[in-house]
Amino acid sequence: MESYAEASTIPLAFTTAAIPLLAANPVGAGLNPTFDPKINFEGEPALVIAGGTSVGQFAIQIYKYLKFNPIIVYASSKHTTYLTQTLGATHVVDRSTIPLDNLPEEVKRITKDKPVKNIYVAQVFTPDATEKSEDGSPDADAEANGKKVYGVFASPSIEPNREFGLEMWKRLPELVKDGIIKVTRVELLPGGLAAVSDALPRFMNGGVSGVKLVFNPQEVA
Ligand SMILES: NC(=O)c1ccc[n+]([C@@H]2O[C@H](COP(=O)([O-])OP(=O)(O)OC[C@H]3O[C@@H](n4cnc5c(N)ncnc54)[C@H](OP(=O)(O)O)[C@@H]3O)[C@@H](O)[C@H]2O)c1
Repeated sequence: MESYAEASTIPLAFTTAAIPLLAANPVGAGLNPTFDPKINFEGEPALVIAGGTSVGQFAIQIYKYLKFNPIIVYASSKHTTYLTQTLGATHVVDRSTIPLDNLPEEVKRITKDKPVKNIYVAQVFTPDATEKSEDGSPDADAEANGKKVYGVFASPSIEPNREFGLEMWKRLPELVKDGIIKVTRVELLPGGLAAVSDALPRFMNGGVSGVKLVFNPQEVA
């Protein structure tokens, strides 16, 4: 990691991936609440939907850290080299050519029908979306189908996230130093906070792809 701009991409996005995957039940799926290096899911497939997002990129790296294999990512194929060679995905299913409805079929082909018990979904909302629920409340429909869904409100310092949050902040510097967790690519924009509103239409129209836009609030236009 080389800059404060890169460092600024970690807290919210990493936490949004880490809490639902790693924190103990009922906060998260409890895959590794203590960051125990001996935990190993070798041979277990994992799927990340919207893996091109920053949170999706951290989910890929967490699955890699836990040794899931294969790690299948649903994202734009233009990110394939980065998602596989830098972050550790094993397969990228191109979201621009494979509709979401056909994803289960593609995944089955890759896993040779082995069930995928772990899926991370970064919900992405387009400007025409009318509904948004990401407050951690259980998804009743999914649970009725025997699935367990962990939502997240990604603040590590509030309850019920606090216990895991303390552990996470203790372990994260080492994971970043060792290159296990890599920061998101950034585009540093000039103009401070005043420039945020100028960048919003670009973001809302899908013009931000695979990077985080970063502003230095202390700068003035
Ligand atoms: N619950 C919480 O506490 C919490 C915290 C942080 C974020 N979030 C939410 O998590 C989501 C992701 O946040 P982020 O900051 O990681 O996003 P981001 O990095 O800004 O997302 C941009 C990426 O979204 C991808 N994308 C756009 N439309 C897509 C679609 N229909 N299917 C799959 N990928 C699509 C694009 O991929 P391409 O490059 O392939 O076009 C683009 O690279 C947002 O909805 C955000 O509100 C929730």
